[in-house]
Amino acid sequence: MKTPILETDRLILRPFCLEDAQEVFECWESDPDVAKYMFWSSHNDINKTISWVKKELRKIDSDDWYRWAILSKETRELLGTGLIYLEEEYGKFEIGYNLGKKAWGFGYTTEAMQEVIKFAKEELGIKEIMGRHAKENPASGKVMVKLGFTYIKDIPYECSRGKNLYAGKEYILKL
Ligand SMILES: CC(C)(COP(=O)(O)OP(=O)(O)OC[C@H]1O[C@@H](n2cnc3c(N)ncnc32)[C@H](O)[C@@H]1OP(=O)(O)O)[C@@H](O)C(=O)NCCC(=O)NCCS
Repeated sequence: MKTPILETDRLILRPFCLEDAQEVFECWESDPDVAKYMFWSSHNDINKTISWVKKELRKIDSDDWYRWAILSKETRELLGTGLIYLEEEYGKFEIGYNLGKKAWGFGYTTEAMQEVIKFAKEELGIKEIMGRHAKENPASGKVMVKLGFTYIKDIPYECSRGKNLYAGKEYILKL
């Protein structure tokens, strides 16, 4: 299914377009603090971000990859991104998210991902979603708990394309 436009009280979630690349780069892709607990590494070159956006554009019609740009409804400013995708190793759908630093702490991630989960349940018929985060990153764990996820077990948690390994936690949400 084509990634649809979703809406919450304060946010618009829409598929990316190529014109987003500069804002994506400035908002989070060039920031090592945002990348620290992500599987990707931060970008030091806008061309890496352009390639990333192009890769996302190729997945817009995919049935196992749904990624949104998260924007402020009021200002139309790009705040971050969230996704739900089929994690092949586990054979389960998993959520992921990050915001640019200046948007942290306003409850935006929880608000955006609640709508993503509603879409996953009602439109995709998904019955179970997994989530993982580094123990050193409690803000992400808080988001999962606020979304209704339940802690399952401790796991190794790879970041920076496998270059950094942290202690992590795995969660499940039954829908
Ligand atoms: C994790 C992240 C997405 C959270 O986004 P957010 O919009 O600020 O999240 P929310 O505001 O919805 O909720 C964050 C919660 O964590 C809490 N929190 C923030 N920093 C914290 C910390 N260091 N320790 C404990 N709790 C923390 C907040 O108080 C809030 O809880 P509350 O609602 O009970 O007050 C954001 O910090 C981010 O983009 N981080 C970098 C990328 C990343 O780590 N992504 C997740 C990888 S698994």
